[in-house]
Amino acid sequence: MNELASVLWPIEAASGLPGRYYTESSAFDEERQRIFGRGWFCLAFASDIAAPGDLLPVEAMGTALLLVRTADGNIRCFHNVCRHRGVRLLEKPARGMRAVRCPYHGWAYDLDGRLRATPHIGGVGHHQAPGFRKSDRGLIPVRTGVWLDMVFVDLHGGAPGLAEWLAPLQRQWRDFPLAHYRPADAEPIRFRLNANWKLAVENYCEAYHLPWVHSGLNRISSLADHYPIVDTAFSGQGSRHYAVRGELPCAADRTLAEYVALYPNLLLGAHTDHFFAMRIDPAAPDLTVEEARLWCLEEAAADSAYAEARSRLRARWEEVFREDVDIVERMQRGRQSPAFDGGCFSPVMDTPSHAFHRWVAARLGAEEPA
Ligand code: FES
Ligand SMILES: [Fe+2]
Repeated sequence: MNELASVLWPIEAASGLPGRYYTESSAFDEERQRIFGRGWFCLAFASDIAAPGDLLPVEAMGTALLLVRTADGNIRCFHNVCRHRGVRLLEKPARGMRAVRCPYHGWAYDLDGRLRATPHIGGVGHHQAPGFRKSDRGLIPVRTGVWLDMVFVDLHGGAPGLAEWLAPLQRQWRDFPLAHYRPADAEPIRFRLNANWKLAVENYCEAYHLPWVHSGLNRISSLADHYPIVDTAFSGQGSRHYAVRGELPCAADRTLAEYVALYPNLLLGAHTDHFFAMRIDPAAPDLTVEEARLWCLEEAAADSAYAEARSRLRARWEEVFREDVDIVERMQRGRQSPAFDGGCFSPVMDTPSHAFHRWVAARLGAEEPA
């Protein structure tokens, strides 16, 4: 039996992922290949490359990628690697670009990734070489899709379509005004966690820790008001009594709020007056970068009349997210102990976090019990 098999057991008997999946670089490499290397994950936010000619270098678990807003307004992604001698093409965001020129020998690519210029490739003053076809040496594209303001990529290219991946969540959220959310004019919320990326996800999935870690939030929306949400590609919890404050325009049902992790790396919160997305970026086995953005309904997303309401909203979520940092880092430290055996789950309160463990274990090759 492999060490992950017991993660797939029924929750009463299951263990969590063993400690080495949080601490060892070999496990991080496995995840790079089998989780982030296959299937969709969120790479960035589209509004960071808002205008044609905007370029953004992004790293995904060490894989250098380049996001581009093309002249026709589409978003494309390429491996950020020159096809000549493999230099990383772009190190910093750039704006107003029509091409990317490699700093080593000056090869230039257009924003659709086509190799356009190869100076002196055939000798001084000769920009062509016999047998060399530029069309064979364009930037290597990465499959890309956008939902709301979130840019998703599928590095391997073999996953089912993004629409198919998102459909169950869109069904779950048919009562939320998804189509009317717009990125809010508010600073992103950023954290660096001294913890493995999975701890940020599994902590987010469950409401069980609410009374102890988020006593303020628990007063607005208490543990008793929460219900678990478990699906194939996401899990989390909802609250029946989220109290919308009335500072922002709101659609229909004012008390509905749901919080799910869309596997592997997006923590989403849907309300009827706002939405947030936190992108989880695994930097090392014990280091994770989090970046959260807010959305409001169309009329409130940028209007200065709502600027204060937006900044209060941002401050409230920043505080809640900050409350999780210490506990998540302490879970990481606990996983360095030889006594940690993967732990266990509450059969009632931990169903969403167990669902995430199961998903990870299955991606890493665990086999279903017979
Ligand atoms: S490595 Fe890029 S032009 Fe030579
Ligand atoms: Fe929390």
